[in-house]
Amino acid sequence: PARALAAMAEQEPDSLDALNAVIRRSEPLVPGATQAVLGEGPVGAAIAFVGEQPGDQEDLQGRPFVGPAGRLLTRAMAEAGLDRDAAYLTNAVKHFKFEQRGKRRIHQSPTAGEVSHYRWWLDRELAFVAPRLVVALGATAVLALTGRPIPVTRARGPAEFPGRPFRGFVTVHPSYLLRLPDEARDEAYVAFVDDLRRVRATAG
Ligand code: URA
Repeated sequence: PARALAAMAEQEPDSLDALNAVIRRSEPLVPGATQAVLGEGPVGAAIAFVGEQPGDQEDLQGRPFVGPAGRLLTRAMAEAGLDRDAAYLTNAVKHFKFEQRGKRRIHQSPTAGEVSHYRWWLDRELAFVAPRLVVALGATAVLALTGRPIPVTRARGPAEFPGRPFRGFVTVHPSYLLRLPDEARDEAYVAFVDDLRRVRATAG
């Protein structure tokens, strides 16, 4: 569908705005999402962060990383001396997928097929933003950026994303930190902030 919609426009989007207009008009691959959640941040940002997919709050507000995981990411970035507003933040998948349980909408991880469906957009988006460094937050982002299911535990740290015109860095997804038991979370958070400090040093 992403390809078909672009074909309907009869040309490749020639700017991030044009690309975003295509994404905004697209139907979710799996029905249910309120809206597409587009990337956010300046074109030409030195650092881009790629997450998994919008969560419940992101879906409702139409902005990436504004729910609990996003707030944790924003705090960790600030502690590492990274300005969220100067970075570009986006997701591998642009629509929230969930299972309804009573009133709650429970996040469901995207399949490899869904990640590959949305990859066409992510590739173009990153080409327009042209960051020097791209941070993959979690395994879904790694899959989207490399096409390969590489566990974060193996790839964590500075990374090469073959064929990509930017340097890479792999770290955990902030929602992983939220799922840890209290006694493990503090240490994992410190390691996450350390990763972001390295990101800052690497992006220079
Ligand atoms: N998790 C993500 O991967 N992305 C968001 O935008 C929010 C939560």
